[in-house]
Amino acid sequence: MAFVQWDERMSVGVETIDQQHRELLELMNSLHETCSGDACQPDAVQKAADQFSEYTRYHFSTEEQFMDSTSYPEFDEHMEQHMECSMKAADFFGDYLAGGGEVGRDMLEYLKQWLINHILKTDRKLGLHLRNQGLE
Ligand SMILES: [Fe+2]
Ligand SMILES: [Fe+2]
Repeated sequence: MAFVQWDERMSVGVETIDQQHRELLELMNSLHETCSGDACQPDAVQKAADQFSEYTRYHFSTEEQFMDSTSYPEFDEHMEQHMECSMKAADFFGDYLAGGGEVGRDMLEYLKQWLINHILKTDRKLGLHLRNQGLE
């Protein structure tokens, strides 16, 4: 059973964004797998965390470009949430590499809940706006 799974409720109705969300959840599953069990190696965790962070940055900037090019009225609030997540993730990864296992579980649970909530509320709202602008 995967740590987190994409389902239709998460669809924002814009293919580029849905595709990136699926990829993001896959990277989160890889990170979870790397952090689980006795085989957990700091190098591997660092690598999976870097991949996740890098793709997150790419994804956030994709959404921000969509918001910018369609003059989205809630751009600032949405971007603030992205920044909050990036900073929290960077803190967590730093603490994890310094402290180990417990931090890892808290970190993954937090990121999972954050992502699901953000997609279901904030990104779906953006999806509605983009579809009203003729994007899909
Ligand atoms: Fe977003
Ligand atoms: Fe998103």
